[in-house]
Amino acid sequence: MVLPEAAAALDWVMDKSLVLGYTKIGPALRRRWWPDDPAPGALAGRHVLVTGSSGGLGLATARGVARLGAVVHLTGRDAARLDEARASLLGEVPSARVEVHVADVSDLAATADFARRLSLEVPRLHAVVHNAGVMPPKRTTTPEGHELALATHVLGPHVLTYGLREALAGGRVVLVTSGGAYGQRLDVDDPEYAAGEYAGVTAYARTKRMQLVLTELWARDFAAAGIGVHSMHPGWADTPGVTDSLPRFAAVTGPLLRDAESGADTAVWLTATTDAIGTGGFWHDRRRRSTHYAPVRVETPEQVGRFWEFVRGATGVPTPGA
Ligand SMILES: NC(=O)c1ccc[n+]([C@@H]2O[C@H](COP(=O)([O-])OP(=O)(O)OC[C@H]3O[C@@H](n4cnc5c(N)ncnc54)[C@H](OP(=O)(O)O)[C@@H]3O)[C@@H](O)[C@H]2O)c1
Repeated sequence: MVLPEAAAALDWVMDKSLVLGYTKIGPALRRRWWPDDPAPGALAGRHVLVTGSSGGLGLATARGVARLGAVVHLTGRDAARLDEARASLLGEVPSARVEVHVADVSDLAATADFARRLSLEVPRLHAVVHNAGVMPPKRTTTPEGHELALATHVLGPHVLTYGLREALAGGRVVLVTSGGAYGQRLDVDDPEYAAGEYAGVTAYARTKRMQLVLTELWARDFAAAGIGVHSMHPGWADTPGVTDSLPRFAAVTGPLLRDAESGADTAVWLTATTDAIGTGGFWHDRRRRSTHYAPVRVETPEQVGRFWEFVRGATGVPTPGA
């Protein structure tokens, strides 16, 4: 969509200032010029899988797509939390069809199995929204030996997406990443964060950078199957993830944080819009954004190739070369 010059300039300034764009000020202003909402019933009868949807932005995304008529599949690691999420969703959207699946995306073998089972149950899946996220307080490895943020944000989603590939033909993939990626370059030398002093915030942001690169790689690989791949970031939203993992940040930004609904808005829109959105883009507040804050420390083709090799090797998912 082409914005009037003044709106485009204001939008850009808000984006670069972070605070104006990422807080609730962002959608309050941008909704005056952003693209139209998807039509009512845009997802009627279509199946949408939202990972990590027992709370926070995942549950808000699930609510958003359910309001548009989708049959929504929730996942998380805890059956009781998922049942509560289902009940709360049905409380707000009584007509919704909601399925819950206990599925830990950081467990690669279990994720491959989940994808197999879901493909049998739902041979036509309109979309998967990769939302599950963590910020580990200390370096933690999964039983399969992968650093937890990497397994949750990168390796598990890779296994899940390729496991659902046939079911997703003609559909969409949305990765919920973070503006935190702007602060990190693609680390191909130590993707498992085995060296140096571990910081959860850094592990989180590094893997969010990887998600941006993965979006472009998947988009290329899935183009022939008509699967559109998009990443988005939600800005700064008031969720348990933020209040629990970043209490100081939440205390300082508290009154300005967006609600979960507006954090999830772009993921819902990307899942449902019929606008020409192409594939492989990075979005925020319904507008395509640059994957780098400034054109520095941009990954080289050689680094991207090494990253793709790493992901393919670590997951064992056979995909074409980069
Ligand atoms: N909130 C923000 O301001 C913000 C900003 C930038 C990016 N994001 C991104 O938005 C996404 C959601 O964040 P949030 O703030 O809503 O976080 P949240 O409140 O902590 O919710 C995270 C969700 O992910 C689930 N989850 C965690 N690990 C999982 C796993 N291994 N398998 C399946 N589900 C898992 C959690 O459920 P269980 O623990 O029950 O499994 C929970 O439902 C994340 O990807 C995050 O990086 C959020």
